[in-house]
Amino acid sequence: MKKIPLFDLKLSVASKREVTSVLNSGWLSTGPKVVSFEKKVCSLMKVPYGVAVNSATIGLQLAMQAIGVGPGREVITTPFTFVATVNAIMALGAQPVFADIDPNTLNIDPDEIDRKFTARTGAVVPVDLAGHPADYNRIMKLCNRATVPLIADSAHSIGAAYGKKSIPLVADAAVVSFYSTKNLTCGEGGMVLSRHQPFMEMVRLLSRHGLTSTAHERRKNAVPLYDVVRPGHKAAMSELHAAVGLGQLADFKKQQKQREKLAKRYHDNLAGLTDYLESPVTYKNCRHGWHLFIIRLHLSSLKIDRDRFIDLMARRGIECGVHYRPVFEYSFYRNYLSLSPQFFPNAAYAGKRVVSLPFYPTLKLTEVDRVCEGVESVVIRHRR
Ligand SMILES: Cc1ncc(COP(=O)(O)O)c(C=O)c1O
Repeated sequence: MKKIPLFDLKLSVASKREVTSVLNSGWLSTGPKVVSFEKKVCSLMKVPYGVAVNSATIGLQLAMQAIGVGPGREVITTPFTFVATVNAIMALGAQPVFADIDPNTLNIDPDEIDRKFTARTGAVVPVDLAGHPADYNRIMKLCNRATVPLIADSAHSIGAAYGKKSIPLVADAAVVSFYSTKNLTCGEGGMVLSRHQPFMEMVRLLSRHGLTSTAHERRKNAVPLYDVVRPGHKAAMSELHAAVGLGQLADFKKQQKQREKLAKRYHDNLAGLTDYLESPVTYKNCRHGWHLFIIRLHLSSLKIDRDRFIDLMARRGIECGVHYRPVFEYSFYRNYLSLSPQFFPNAAYAGKRVVSLPFYPTLKLTEVDRVCEGVESVVIRHRR
């Protein structure tokens, strides 16, 4: 029987056309395609400013650096994330401070954030896990009270909305990812988005070694000289990556609709299995971005653990994943930051029970049915 992967990608004809035009253009590094991609993503998200970078990881780093995060500062974030969130904080020499999660959405719990503010807090960085927005109303209120900026790790949530607004409009800034598996991909890439102009000018400078112009601008305008106004990073996006993204953008809204349809089919099919698992929830006031479809197993109703569940699904030709093991499960963070699961009971339990089911726009509804039949047969056969 045909295998069903966790993730699949079919590049559009438009992406191939855009890439060919870059290959024929005589310029592959940052240039007009990047400018056009920035404008289109800003327009999609209705945000005034966007800076394209070569990963969301560096985007998070630049955004935090631009607001003064560095040695001696703390950044409050979630332990239930991909390690990039934490590594971006540590790359600046700042201290990550973790707040436990809401077990329903798997997103950072605002009450826990409130307990973690100190005089050293330089930023709060929630993650919109799987595409579900963090609780921005409450987090923004806490940040305003503490006069601490709110930078959203929106690597998963380009298609999401909070109270009808895209995430960069309900935080001080948001960083999206265009990694291969993401809802909108460039292969590699990210974008910092915000309504704060001076902040975004700083992010742009930091993304190009502090140079006042790009090589393409100097060539186009026949102005060979530039100034360097501060040290920065080599973080700008290339034309080739922007071209892939531009092509993908043409289908983005259609693909989001397809993701919604697939999520609904999963919900409908799994509705009878609530003794054994929970499907993802969507809180009122939120539009889920549907990057991942993560179920949570009721381990007390099953004789098998999550890893065995995934193994049994694989034997049926269905690939599942884990998003995520909390960062304190990894030896480096556990040892270096002296973390213990007992400080984060919700994240610790979630890390043992989450399973990501196959999810991508070209997945067929009949394949969703096959995945759900697999889930049902495994949980029924191994129930307590
Ligand atoms: C939650 C989260 N934050 C940040 C990143 C980093 O994104 P990138 O791979 O574009 O650097 C990822 C990537 O998967 C992610 O899942």
